[in-house]
Amino acid sequence: MSRKDVRKILVTGATGQIGSELTMELRKRYGSHNIVAAGHRRKPSEKLFRSGPFEYIDATDRESVEKTIRHYDIDTIYHLAAVLSATGEEKPQTAWNVNMNGLYNILEIAREHELMKVFWPSSIAVFGPEAPRNNTPQDAVLIPRTMYGVTKVAGELLCNYYFLRFGLDVRSVRYPGIISSETLPGGGTTDYAVEIFYEAIKKKRYTCFVREETMLPMMYMPDCIKAAIELMEADSSRITCHMSYNVTGMSFSAGELATEIRKYIPGFKCEYESDFRQKIADSWPMSLDDSAARMDWDWKPRYDLASLTKDMIEKLTKRFTEGNL
Ligand code: SER
Repeated sequence: MSRKDVRKILVTGATGQIGSELTMELRKRYGSHNIVAAGHRRKPSEKLFRSGPFEYIDATDRESVEKTIRHYDIDTIYHLAAVLSATGEEKPQTAWNVNMNGLYNILEIAREHELMKVFWPSSIAVFGPEAPRNNTPQDAVLIPRTMYGVTKVAGELLCNYYFLRFGLDVRSVRYPGIISSETLPGGGTTDYAVEIFYEAIKKKRYTCFVREETMLPMMYMPDCIKAAIELMEADSSRITCHMSYNVTGMSFSAGELATEIRKYIPGFKCEYESDFRQKIADSWPMSLDDSAARMDWDWKPRYDLASLTKDMIEKLTKRFTEGNL
């Protein structure tokens, strides 16, 4: 194998909801020692820590990132470290600093060290109320109302600029709400769609912070990981969008999710008390048109609401029974 065939990957935000599972999958695929997990504030789980190299890195501190890039001879970065939408509204200045300066440092380092590829997730939060909310097109107008959304739009533009100006191979998808059973999300607006499962299993009741009819696009973690890896492995000639691809798995309302969970937990009671996150949810798409991703790199999700709910309930019930939830 030539040097270029051996990937040495850095995953920032590896202790987060997506990072913790994506890192494990990358280690399975490309070899544990080739995947360097990096976290900042959150401690890694035992599983993550034991499975391969781990470094504490603050993406806003360029030197700490650069040191790791050199030390491990990194050629690819999955840059996941970010402040999400709800926390971003409580601390807009922190969200700007972490999301923008973090991404800027990663892109600059990738340019200077001539790295092969960068993956960076964008979000449905790039859209605002001016965009059509049903089947939101790839090229709909981007006027977000949250600081998180502002950083995602600016980030997409920056990635596109680095591709056009410097030829940097940076790839991105606009994720919808991500549902998963390993690591809880933190500070997002779509967190209710994960919390509801934990509370349904532990207490048979949940108070949801958005209204019953609130509908958002969602995706199950295996599809989230599949999207990132398939996009990164796609031949560069197939990538026609250098901002970020819409991708989605399904769309459902909070009420529909509760009804689906009730099929497994008949006594489950869900109440609705919306807070400031309702306004954020109401400014986002209800469903996404991801036909560009389907066409360019054969994107196709595997999970729908029924199969996601079945799998979540099985996994979390097992953890609950083992005293691990
Ligand atoms: N899940 C994210 C959030 O709710 C959206 O990208 O902030």
